[in-house]
Amino acid sequence: MNYKRLFDVLNACSMQRWAEILEPQLTDYFNNLNHGDYSRWKASIDNLPAIVPSQIILDSDSVQIGKAVDCPEGIAEELKQQLQVLMPWRKGPFNLFGCLIDTEWRSDLKWSRLEQHIKPLDDRMVLDIGCGNGYYGWRMLGNNARHIVGLDPTLLFYMQFSAIKKYIPEANIDLLPFGIQKLPDFKLNFDAVFSMGVIYHRRDPIEHVRQCLNCLKTGGELVLESLVIDDENIDALIPNDRYAKMNNVWAIPNTATMIDWVEQAGFQNARIIDVTQTTSDEQRQTEWMKFESLSDFLNKEDKSQTVEGYPAPTRAILLADKP
Ligand SMILES: C[S@@+](CC[C@H](N)C(=O)[O-])C[C@H]1O[C@@H](n2cnc3c(N)ncnc32)[C@H](O)[C@@H]1O
Repeated sequence: MNYKRLFDVLNACSMQRWAEILEPQLTDYFNNLNHGDYSRWKASIDNLPAIVPSQIILDSDSVQIGKAVDCPEGIAEELKQQLQVLMPWRKGPFNLFGCLIDTEWRSDLKWSRLEQHIKPLDDRMVLDIGCGNGYYGWRMLGNNARHIVGLDPTLLFYMQFSAIKKYIPEANIDLLPFGIQKLPDFKLNFDAVFSMGVIYHRRDPIEHVRQCLNCLKTGGELVLESLVIDDENIDALIPNDRYAKMNNVWAIPNTATMIDWVEQAGFQNARIIDVTQTTSDEQRQTEWMKFESLSDFLNKEDKSQTVEGYPAPTRAILLADKP
């Protein structure tokens, strides 16, 4: 991955100090990469057929790169085989030259719930913390953002992003294969920070929101999405062990607590713009994600509860401004 365009845009947006430390961080990361699947995943990306996309559509539900007719005879199957080496595909959908990557999540549904509420992204610098394979970043580019910087420590998601970006190398989007811990202590200058599906995995949620604040310029917008509980009597659900079979969920707030965390961290005008219970239309097993999914995480007799007896997954989206 070539990060030159990212460094250039960071320099142009008063974030040169970050660019300076990112360069050695990235070199160090890639020099020391010893994940057991890396060579296999890298080979699949290297072996992706060379096809030039005749169109790119980033403002539709599936991120579309090229058309089926761009694919020379016999190449479509090879493309699908290489992309399937990168399974499980969780966030999407993507459509590459007619090959629909039907991901576990219909991530477009969440995007459609928030798109009309956020500040326009035109010419905005956006940081997407815990961006997964970058699906939302492509949708932000479809909304004319200037540059998207995604942050995610899961190597497979970085490889999926790299596979997509191979067909649009000039796109103004980059993924840093790091967790939020690697963000600098000094202030950054983003117009918008997204943190979706991350806060309940963090042991100190207020500190997580403070880190988001530190990345924003004055007047910048936070988009925070979390699992929530619909219970006014407890501030947050602290699962004893697993929640919906996930073993790294620390605290699931109610919406009032979510607002409270964000205000305590220093944001203003915090408001919830959507609360939606997750359905099996939105999260399900597919040809591209063959492991267990939502229906396996719910009590078979009572779908309003998880298998552990907690309220079934419901998610809220909060917006707030940096004063
Ligand atoms: C539930 S997924 C959410 C993905 C995407 N933001 C969405 O809303 O669909 C949580 C993501 O956070 C990432 N993650 C886990 N620990 C993280 C950390 N310390 N910093 C940033 N991202 C992290 C995971 O790799 C995963 O992709």
